[in-house]
Amino acid sequence: MEIKRENWGSRLGFVLAAAGSAVGLGNIWRFPYLTGENGGSAFILIYLVFVILIGISVMIAEFSLGRSTGLAAVGAIKTYSHRFTFVGAMGVISAFLIMGFYPVVGGWALAYILESVTGLYALSPEAIGDTFGNFITGATQPLIWMLVFLALNILIVAKGIKGGIEKAAKVLMPTLFILLIFISIRSLTLEGAGEGLSFLFRPDFSLVTGQTFLAALGQAFFSLSLGMGAMITYGSYLSKKETLPGNAVIVTVLDVGVALLAGIAMFPALFAFGMTPDQGPGLVFVVIPGVFAEMGGLGVLFGTIFFIALSVAALTSSISLMEVVVSYLIDQRDMQRKKAVYGTGVVMAIMSILASLSMGVFGPLPVLNVGVFDLFDILSDKVFLGLGGMFIAIVTGWVVNKETLRKELTNDGNKSFALFEVWHFLIKWIIPPAIFIVAIFGIIDIEETAVMLLGIAIVALLAIFSKKLH
Ligand code: TRP
Repeated sequence: MEIKRENWGSRLGFVLAAAGSAVGLGNIWRFPYLTGENGGSAFILIYLVFVILIGISVMIAEFSLGRSTGLAAVGAIKTYSHRFTFVGAMGVISAFLIMGFYPVVGGWALAYILESVTGLYALSPEAIGDTFGNFITGATQPLIWMLVFLALNILIVAKGIKGGIEKAAKVLMPTLFILLIFISIRSLTLEGAGEGLSFLFRPDFSLVTGQTFLAALGQAFFSLSLGMGAMITYGSYLSKKETLPGNAVIVTVLDVGVALLAGIAMFPALFAFGMTPDQGPGLVFVVIPGVFAEMGGLGVLFGTIFFIALSVAALTSSISLMEVVVSYLIDQRDMQRKKAVYGTGVVMAIMSILASLSMGVFGPLPVLNVGVFDLFDILSDKVFLGLGGMFIAIVTGWVVNKETLRKELTNDGNKSFALFEVWHFLIKWIIPPAIFIVAIFGIIDIEETAVMLLGIAIVALLAIFSKKLH
C-alpha cells in the first residue's frame, strides 16, 4: 500500500506528542490517589517494576507494529494476523471505555481553572474538600464542563495530526513540569511534611494483595498509554529515521517522572494538613488547592496556571484516545476524518454524561454493584488494557517474524539495539504469562468480581468472533 501518511514535523514533535499522550490525568490525578489507596511506597515499587519489565517492552512492541505497517492499531495487527484482529477491536473498545470517564475528570480540571480565580484558595482544607464533593455530585455543572472538554477534543482531532496535537503538546507540557517542581518544593517545606515522604518511600508490604499487583499493572498500562494500540497509531506516523527503543525510553522516563513528581507534590502536603491518604479520586482537587491556599496571593496565580496545564495535559492524552478510534474509522472504514470525529464524539458524550451523573445523581448499577464511572474505569484498566498488552506481546513475540522486528528496531541495521535479544525474550516468554498471572490473582482478590467477569466475557466473545471482524 503506497498511501503517503502524514509524518511528524520533527523528532521533538513526536516525543512531545507521545509523551503528551502518556502524561495526563493518569499521572497527576490517578497515580497519587491509587498510591494513597494502596498504602504508598510498596505500590509504587511494584508499579515501577512493571513499568521497567513490562511497560517499556510493550511500548517498543507497539511502536514497531505501527511503524513497520504504517497503519493504525486495527490495520497493523490485521496485517500480521487475521486471528488477532480482535486485539485491535479491543483497543477501539478500550478507547471508548476510557473516553467514557476521562472527559468527566477533564471537565473537573477545567472547572478548577475558574474555581482558582473565584476564591477557592481562601478556604480551609476542609472547606476545599466540601467544595469538591458538592461540585462533582451536582447534576449540571460537571456536565457542562465535561462537554466543553469533549468539544475541545473534537476541535483538535478534527484538524488532523500535525495542526492540532503537535502544537498543543509543545507549549504546555514543559509548563506543567516546572509547576509540579514548584508545588513539590512548597509542599515539602510545610510543617509535618516528613511523614508524607516516608509514606512515599518507605515500603510497607503488609498491605500488598493480589489486587495491589493488578492495580499497579493497570496503572502502568494506563499511564503509559499502552495496551490498546494508541502507541501503534503514533508509531505509524513516525519517520523511518527515528530509533524506536530510544524514543520509548524517553517517553517512559518522562511519564514516570511526572507521576513521581505528582506524588511528591501531594503527599507531604496531605500529611501536613492532617488528612488520610485514602482520599480517592478527589485527591488532587483537594490537596493541591490546599497547598496553593498556603501561598497567599501567589497561590491564585499558580493555581490558575496549574489547572490550565492539567487541563491541557488531559487534552493531549484524550486526543490520542480519540485518535485511536478515528484513525480506525479512516483507515479501515474509509470514513472522512470530520465525520469520524463527530460520530465518535457523540458516543463519548453519552457515555460521559452517564459516568458524570453516577457520581451523585444515580446510584450503583444493579448486579455489578458499581457506578457507571467506576464500571468504565475498572473495565478499561483492570481488564482491557492488561489483556490487550498481553495479546500485543503475543502477536509481536509469536506471530511477527523475529528478523522483521530486528530490522525495524535497528532501522535496517543502521542503528544498534544492544538489548534486542533481551527485549524479544521478554516479549515472547515473560510478559504474556506475567500479565496472565497478575490478572488471575487480581480477579481472585478484587471486590468487583462481577465486573471483571463481564470484561473477560466480552474479550472472549471478541476473540471467538475474531474472523468475522473487519
Ligand atoms: N496515558 C494517559 C494518562 O495517563 C491516558 C491515555 C491516553 C491512555 N491514551 C491512552 C491510556 C491509551 C491507555 C491507552 O492520562
